[in-house]
Amino acid sequence: MAKIDDVAGLIRAIGERDYAKAKRYGTVMVANERGAGREKAAIQLERSLQTWGAENSKLVELPQAIKSMIYNPDKLNDLSEIWLSGDVKNAVDGFVIERQKTSVIRDARLAVRNRILLAGPPGNGKTTLAGAISNELNLPFYVLNLAEIVSSYMGKTSGNIGKIFEYAFLNQCVLFLDELDAIGKSRASGTDGSIREYSLIVNTLLTSLDRLPDTAVVIGATNLPDLLDPAIIRRFNLRLWLDNPSATEIENYVTVYMDTHSICFNRDFKQLIGQPWSKIEEYCIEQHRNLIIGKSGIGTTGWIGKPSNQP
Ligand SMILES: Nc1ncnc2c1ncn2[C@@H]1O[C@H](COP(=O)(O)OP(=O)(O)OP(=O)(O)O)[C@@H](O)[C@H]1O
Ligand SMILES: [Mg+2]
Repeated sequence: MAKIDDVAGLIRAIGERDYAKAKRYGTVMVANERGAGREKAAIQLERSLQTWGAENSKLVELPQAIKSMIYNPDKLNDLSEIWLSGDVKNAVDGFVIERQKTSVIRDARLAVRNRILLAGPPGNGKTTLAGAISNELNLPFYVLNLAEIVSSYMGKTSGNIGKIFEYAFLNQCVLFLDELDAIGKSRASGTDGSIREYSLIVNTLLTSLDRLPDTAVVIGATNLPDLLDPAIIRRFNLRLWLDNPSATEIENYVTVYMDTHSICFNRDFKQLIGQPWSKIEEYCIEQHRNLIIGKSGIGTTGWIGKPSNQP
């Protein structure tokens, strides 16, 4: 059964003609029903919410208070531009199809997944993939850098995270939580006061993730998943590991790069094995640039002139 506070809030909001608030109460009720295993009731409420026209679906502007904490990148990559290993590609394609067929999934009384965790070494496309998924789903992409938020808004962080999620409650979007480990890491190594603050942040995050309706998608990213609170990891219903490319993938990438640009450069890329995708891309661009200016040895992919005894 819907909670009496939510029902009262909904009635009050309608009385005040505050449709954004009313929609929020409706959304919370859906999440509560679903969380309690009453899928039939959740679907019924959800269908009622869907009758709200487009004019009601974009009721809330990005509030001023959270504008400075979120950014909305102008350019997003296409999914086809990102090289993914077979299993990860299948999972991403499956997720996109699932998001496009939400009503049949709900009809089958299954939950529609909306929380992805991306992990893996730096430079392997976590941020790029999150943006590309948003692009593919045709939803606005909001990036929230948790490391930045935690350091600049300490003390107010959990409240701010709550506000950001509240926005996602009401507006179909992809919310990207970058550097999710900033929370777990600092919790483990903080002082007494900060441990309390971080516990509060983790709790807010957990509650927000639990209550988030499946109309919004949350993608978290971390280079250090071992530092994450296990309860947070569990909240993500699709977990993808983006690894450094294999030797074969590097070879394929370099070959495709040369074919696409109708150029040919040094294919001795053993030095690239064990490096992330970002380095492979840089290597190709560097070779390409050297070909154009007719000069080799101008490196951009590492330190120039660094002594060999330096780590
Ligand atoms: N799988 C990939 N396929 C093609 N290009 C890639 C891939 N991964 C990364 N790149 C290239 O490397 C750049 C850096 O990737 P990105 O910033 O998405 O990595 P990241 O995993 O988010 O790194 P970090 O952990 O440092 O935030 C991208 O702009 C893209 O051009
Ligand atoms: Mg990133």
